[in-house]
Amino acid sequence: MTVDLQTKQPAQSLPLLQLEHVSISPKKMPHRLLVNDVSFSIEIGKTTCVVGESGSGKSLTALAIMGLLSNQLTLNGGRVLFNDAENGVIDLTKLDDESLRKLRGDKIAMIFQEPMTSLNPVLTVGYQIGESLTTHLGLRGEHLNSKIASLLEMVGIPAERAQSYPDELSGGQRQRVMIAMSIACEPSLLIADEPTTALDVTVQAQILKLLSELKTRMNMGMLFITHDFGVVADIADNVVVMFRGQIVESGTREQVLCNPQHPYTKALLACVPDAEGEKRLKPIDYSWLTGDHTAAEAGEAMHE
Ligand SMILES: Nc1ncnc2c1ncn2[C@@H]1O[C@H](COP(=O)(O)OP(=O)(O)OP(=O)(O)O)[C@@H](O)[C@H]1O
Ligand SMILES: [Mg+2]
Repeated sequence: MTVDLQTKQPAQSLPLLQLEHVSISPKKMPHRLLVNDVSFSIEIGKTTCVVGESGSGKSLTALAIMGLLSNQLTLNGGRVLFNDAENGVIDLTKLDDESLRKLRGDKIAMIFQEPMTSLNPVLTVGYQIGESLTTHLGLRGEHLNSKIASLLEMVGIPAERAQSYPDELSGGQRQRVMIAMSIACEPSLLIADEPTTALDVTVQAQILKLLSELKTRMNMGMLFITHDFGVVADIADNVVVMFRGQIVESGTREQVLCNPQHPYTKALLACVPDAEGEKRLKPIDYSWLTGDHTAAEAGEAMHE
């Protein structure tokens, strides 16, 4: 069985994914909005970067899209509209668990920050890459093995490493395996939550390049989460800046990087390494904060 990419293309005139007024809160404290009225979209074949400091709600937003919020949390309103090639536009928040499971790994895939927590240490990487190919595409036997080999080669790992266990690979190789798993079924949307943070700078650059190439080759839309504006400058088409659960600014990469409007974006940009690669040790200026937030609170958010 082969996958016909043509049948998996979503409607071209609409965004691939559109979040509308998404809010998330703990079930026990419905008024405490961890994600507060977030709306943005991801275009077909383009990358939207969500950037913001630790605790700003980036991962929760991604998990909500995937229908993977933990039991203690709940979606507190909003829609997540996915432009599905076969079924038209569907609101992912209305899908039952079974339908969501079918979408995940097939049309929507996610790469997590730390590959060792997502890979099973007692199964070979080839087996783990093969799982979603069998589940979603029904591949077995020779077809399955050759697809696993071609996926490994696509991400720059020799095919014979299919027999290796995760702890026999380097950190960068494990992240490549995670990428191979995520793209196995040629998803139209790939969500990557800080996939390079645990890697050294050189490997990080290689992985970013690989993701960009695969995105172009497969015409995937990508939601890329990072706290690093250097990464944003490298790969984003559009940028969403989050602070304390809310979007404070969004726009094209050029708009946000070259002409930031919000003081928080300006403050974050001031921390980007300069041309010589030196981190400017300029503390983030929170003096613009007013109302409910104090500068001290914001400082705490930085260190959570
Ligand atoms: N299960 C939970 N129960 C209560 N609060 C939670 C839960 N999960 C996350 N939070 C809180 O929600 C806020 C947003 O968390 P989230 O993981 O989305 O942040 P993030 O922007 O991804 O941060 P980081 O850059 O550190 O990964 C944080 O203040 C976090 O403490
Ligand atoms: Mg996170």
